[in-house]
Amino acid sequence: MAQSELADKGRPEKVTELPVKGFDHVELYVGNALQAAYYYQHGFGFDLVAFRGLETGERDKVSYVLKQQNVTLVITGSLKPDTEITEHISLHGDGVKTIALQVQDASAAFSTVIGRGAKIAIPYGEHTDENGLFRQGSIHTYGSTIHTFVERHAYKGAFAPTFKTRKKSLGKPIGLLAIDHIVGNVEVGKLPDWIDFYRRVFGFRIYQEFDAKDISTQYSALISAVMTNENTSIKLPINEPAEGLRKSQIQEYLDYYQEPGVQHIAISTANIIDTVKELRNRGIKFLTVPKSYYEALPERVGKIDENIDDLAVLGILVDREAGGYLLQIFTKPVQDRPTLFFEIIQRKGATGFGKGNFKALFEAIENEQAHRGNL
Ligand code: FE2
Repeated sequence: MAQSELADKGRPEKVTELPVKGFDHVELYVGNALQAAYYYQHGFGFDLVAFRGLETGERDKVSYVLKQQNVTLVITGSLKPDTEITEHISLHGDGVKTIALQVQDASAAFSTVIGRGAKIAIPYGEHTDENGLFRQGSIHTYGSTIHTFVERHAYKGAFAPTFKTRKKSLGKPIGLLAIDHIVGNVEVGKLPDWIDFYRRVFGFRIYQEFDAKDISTQYSALISAVMTNENTSIKLPINEPAEGLRKSQIQEYLDYYQEPGVQHIAISTANIIDTVKELRNRGIKFLTVPKSYYEALPERVGKIDENIDDLAVLGILVDREAGGYLLQIFTKPVQDRPTLFFEIIQRKGATGFGKGNFKALFEAIENEQAHRGNL
């Protein structure tokens, strides 16, 4: 589909943008929250800041709240069979359940999006206790994924009601700063519907689009659109598979996740070399980049501050745009199924997503797919 066609398909009347401050947290449903929390604490340098489970009076589930600068992950597991959490894990494996958005007024946000046709996932609720007022409500987005609107400015407690403060820091943060973007994969032909959803319900706009020619290799392809709000504090790229000689990496994801869902979470750092060195020391595995990528790099990106040999040793990718350049790297999947992974990104004036790296990156992903027998 040509870019203009995608942009124009079913374009609704301009909808007033829903005011959103930024990403509040991301919640993962996992098979073993204790062990997954250990992985994110030790592997990615997160601190434990809050907990809920049997010890706090919670009978059905357990959650570890992990924080590093402005990134909050909630790792949740089930204490019982036949819960919404075990169903999610059985179908999807470990994965993202919630992309939570922080708002000034959750009541207004929730009634606005419901009025615009969003479907309720968890009804709006207000909680008042000695810590103040906490308000939230959740709606469905692609697959089993939900958006929760969180209002916490009048709440002083640990993370959220029912959570207790439980602090454990390993004392060695690795420089992760904030969530840069969160990417979803949807089925063939569904991207226009999801563009429409974010326009109609959130009043978001298309920030960038990529067609099959931008994102293709000899074998597989995808098309993509990035939805954002006016100040770009929320960036939500959405991919759908495109026809290729072999199976698109997006289709592989959909086959294993069984439904649309979050493909990757991109987290920013102010020094990607130090951050990736530390991640590698801790055993986090990244996609490998062919040597030829670095041979072609000086000509492709021109002068950069970093030493290319350092980047090559660590496998960090570089892309230049009009406003500057960015450095990025992608982990291997972080659970058994080839589904969710992380991106580490450092922006030096560039606001895009590394379009110039797509080909090198996808060839690296296809190598992995081939190793898994899925190409
Ligand atoms: Fe990304």
